[in-house]
Amino acid sequence: MTDATNPAPLTSDDDWWRSAVVYQVYVRSFADANGDGVGDLQGIRERLPYLRDLGVDALWLTPFYTSPQVDAGYDVADYRDVDPLFGSLTDFDAMITDAHALGLRIIVDLVPNHTSSQHPWFSAALAAAPGSPEREFYLFADGKGENGELPPNDWESIFGGPAWTRVPDGQWYLHLFDPAQPDLNWRHPQVRAEFEDVLRFWLDRGVDGFRIDVAHGMIKAEGLPDVGFNSMTTGQRQSELLGKGRLPYFDQDEVHDIYRAWRPILDSYPGGRMAVAEAWAETPQRLARYIGPDELHQAFSFDFLDATWSADSFRKVIDTALAESTIVGAPTTWVLSNHDRQRHVTRYGDGEVGLRRARAAALLMLALPGCAYVYQGEELGLPEVLDIPDELRQDPAFLRTGESRDGCRVPIPWSGELAPYGFGPQGCELSWLPAPATWRALSVAAQTGVPGSTLELYRAALRIRHEHPALAGTTGGVTWLETEPGVLAFHRTDGATTLTCVVNISGAVVVVEGYGRPIVASEELTEQGPGHVLPVDAAAWFERR
Ligand code: BGC
Repeated sequence: MTDATNPAPLTSDDDWWRSAVVYQVYVRSFADANGDGVGDLQGIRERLPYLRDLGVDALWLTPFYTSPQVDAGYDVADYRDVDPLFGSLTDFDAMITDAHALGLRIIVDLVPNHTSSQHPWFSAALAAAPGSPEREFYLFADGKGENGELPPNDWESIFGGPAWTRVPDGQWYLHLFDPAQPDLNWRHPQVRAEFEDVLRFWLDRGVDGFRIDVAHGMIKAEGLPDVGFNSMTTGQRQSELLGKGRLPYFDQDEVHDIYRAWRPILDSYPGGRMAVAEAWAETPQRLARYIGPDELHQAFSFDFLDATWSADSFRKVIDTALAESTIVGAPTTWVLSNHDRQRHVTRYGDGEVGLRRARAAALLMLALPGCAYVYQGEELGLPEVLDIPDELRQDPAFLRTGESRDGCRVPIPWSGELAPYGFGPQGCELSWLPAPATWRALSVAAQTGVPGSTLELYRAALRIRHEHPALAGTTGGVTWLETEPGVLAFHRTDGATTLTCVVNISGAVVVVEGYGRPIVASEELTEQGPGHVLPVDAAAWFERR
């Protein structure tokens, strides 16, 4: 469709996603246009010029569909509508039109592993009898024990506790996450047909791509076999195997049939429509199977997100990710933070040290080939908020495990002296999570135009990343350079121009020499003879023509 409500996508470069910088918008915490304390689509629309000026290529929006919001929208009750909390389809259309006009692409989150328990299919399944066609859309099973009083198997919810809940007639249903997120039966042809239609619905509205939630989860092993242990039996949580071992409910071979059916749908639309998998697999080789010309375009490289502040750790995950990308012929993705993990300022030590390291990590990430995902607020150097009072925490995992993801989801500070710092309309004091007083100094307005601010560092690095010929290539690796221990140095080149990224994780200052002139640095450099002193926990890019 190409009319005003369903704009044509950008058409310039079908391979745009290979080297894009994608900015993750956590919709409820980005910008609140209507003053109810929760971010919305109109808020995003108003802030699009900020994102264009920041220099990102695309936005990934977390779920904004109709939802009871038990898991912040990852519990969808209607896949084809916008939750009134976030606006309307008309707001979506206006937002995507403006985004495209500014040259920004839009990726939406698709949640196919489970629906909300308030989805009409689940209501019908509950109302129908065991064994009915309505129950076939989900994974209902009889329990074990004399009267079926024990769950059908030992599977554990990622949010803690058993993955099964019993309904009044005695059957159990599977939910790998919250009980309000029943898992769909992806062996049911109507489930497959429904999601193919949902893909088309959003593609017709002009979206440029999808982030596939729990992309490794849709198919469960036949017979629903036990894992063999769980926190109740051995004290070890099954989720500890994520990315390290095999679980009968994740990464089953048959899941790839689903993506092989989706790819032709994506390819049938113009403009390079893409999909990125949130997938966990036992080995890089198994993760690579999600990517390719007949499946998805990308999978998040979570090892990078898990890397600790050490040269060896970064070197190892970068080499592994680059090797994977060579296997599949698609560039990798880099992620330092997202809405499920503690923000990297805090992971790297918090406070001033954490911020210095996070700024250096940004230069490391943005110099690498491939696609970089920036989580909203990382360009401001936001730390995790560690002291949210328990009664304000909203993550469903908190009640089940005591672990909460709320601290990385606090609304963005835009401007002003008082919390929530311009998150809502002028004078509005509401925000669904409170922002700490220290965030006044971290707001967009407080950092704009301030030399050396984290925001200006990101702007400078993103501009160079776009314009620099040495960073233009979308494939290929990096050339590691000999350094002293604890220092990472690599270069990228187009033959005529070479850009070298140096990261000092050694704990002592180092003198960098021979790579040309510095063009951006996370801390101030001082000249020393023909070289430059790179401070502790700092990174810089040098250019030689
Ligand atoms: C999302 C989480 C969500 C879960 C269940 C994850 O992959 O990133 O935020 O809670 O899926 O949908």
